[in-house]
Amino acid sequence: MSVFLGIDIGTSGTKTLAMDALGAIRAEATETYPCHVPRPLWSEQDPEDWWRATVRSVRRVIRQAKLRPADVTAIGLSGQMHGSVFLDKRDCVVRPAILWNDQRTAAECDEIERRAGGRAALIRMAANPALTGFTAPKILWLRNHEPRHFDATRKVLLPKDEIRRRMTGEYATDVSDASGTLLLDVARRRWSRRLLAKLDLDPDLLPECFESEDITGTLTSAAAKELGLSTGCVVVGGAGDCAAGAVGNGIVRRGVLSTSIGTSGVVFVHSDQPKVDPQGRVHTFCHAVRGKWHMMGVNLSAGGSLQWFRNALCQAETDRAKREGRDVYDILTAEAADVPPGSQGLFFLPYLSGERTPHADPDARGCFVGLTLAHGRGHLVRAVMEGVTYAMRESIEIFDGLGVPIRQIRVSGGGSRSPVWRQIQADVFGRKVTTINAEQGPAYGAALLAAVGAGAFSNIEEACRATIHVVKRTSPRQSARRAYNQAFPVYSGLYKVLADEFKRITALPSAFPH
Ligand code: XUL
Repeated sequence: MSVFLGIDIGTSGTKTLAMDALGAIRAEATETYPCHVPRPLWSEQDPEDWWRATVRSVRRVIRQAKLRPADVTAIGLSGQMHGSVFLDKRDCVVRPAILWNDQRTAAECDEIERRAGGRAALIRMAANPALTGFTAPKILWLRNHEPRHFDATRKVLLPKDEIRRRMTGEYATDVSDASGTLLLDVARRRWSRRLLAKLDLDPDLLPECFESEDITGTLTSAAAKELGLSTGCVVVGGAGDCAAGAVGNGIVRRGVLSTSIGTSGVVFVHSDQPKVDPQGRVHTFCHAVRGKWHMMGVNLSAGGSLQWFRNALCQAETDRAKREGRDVYDILTAEAADVPPGSQGLFFLPYLSGERTPHADPDARGCFVGLTLAHGRGHLVRAVMEGVTYAMRESIEIFDGLGVPIRQIRVSGGGSRSPVWRQIQADVFGRKVTTINAEQGPAYGAALLAAVGAGAFSNIEEACRATIHVVKRTSPRQSARRAYNQAFPVYSGLYKVLADEFKRITALPSAFPH
């Protein structure tokens, strides 16, 4: 028997699943860990937590599916993108990893553009502008603010690649995840020596770069023992969670767009060429499909907004859900379902960690706007879900403006498991949305990449054709669609009105206490 593991190193936890050669899921397990916010708009994690969660979830999956070590022939890794793991000469981390939704690097983004010879020159080299969440600005931040740590750093790895190093002893990454460092020549699918030179960064800091289905190493005997697997098991390149999630959704050809509501919100389209948005509002990265690319818009707090709302304001419901063996989100979204579309004039701007698409603004802040005495908690929950969905519509409108064909929208991620949020998406986008049979997104995509690498399918397109199909369709409702078409310009206008005030908030000494 040949079984493939897909392991996704997410922001809230690590999910591992075991998939057989026909694409059927035999078992899955998730282990969670915390995200640390040492200052407002900073975001860090301990890579040791990822490893511990990986070991536990792999062992649980092996047990559940009653597998023998030799049954698992290949592993595909996926992970939160852009995070920086700084390793010293002994492969010890020099500080906690700085994550994709951390906003400390605005000055370094300016420095990168200056060193590159301007924004247009940077986009020509890396296909993208400098954004605070990307990896290169974090490396420069370390050099500027923690020079001792920078001097001690010998390698910079992305989150899933740190797990690969623990598994195989190899320093390696894949082209999709490498795209989010801002150090990849995205069109040529290799590190940009030119940009590295301009930033005065040693190319040896970076791992070797592979295509997503290529084999990058085999388990060391120590790792095999800890994971309960065999040393014959190979590890393929894998992909950043956006590209892996897209593979898991079957987004491997033109015309199909996916939205994913996890901690972040991602709107993703496949591209046969490295097409670039000249304004840099959406990203252009290598796809996990050999020789293909993708474009995407990213909202930093999507499901993360509802998670924040639950943590900050719904302790009683969380306790009740636990007592009753229910999911607290089912309780909250049921309250939202009773509120009419548009939340009776209440808006939520989901900028809890600043925002990326379309504003690229580290100073943006979350807000409720339009509160009245008539609004209750159901309105707040619905406004959060609508605000996140409006933010995703802004990406869809950018793709429409760039002439990207959109014939089908597939919704995915934890948020889209809610029928209420699926309906809100259909109504806000004004288009039919579909869900597919596989709900595991990035972990499933990573398992498919492993299966291709191990030769179970001849390529990733064939793997998706054989395993993924549409199961459900949700159509927009006329009256809701009308209400959202009227409300959407108000939502978009609010950022413009508030952008300067966000900057003034950031400048307040009381906003960033030391
Ligand atoms: C993508 C991004 C996020 C993280 C979250 O550019 O920053 O989607 O990958 O896991």
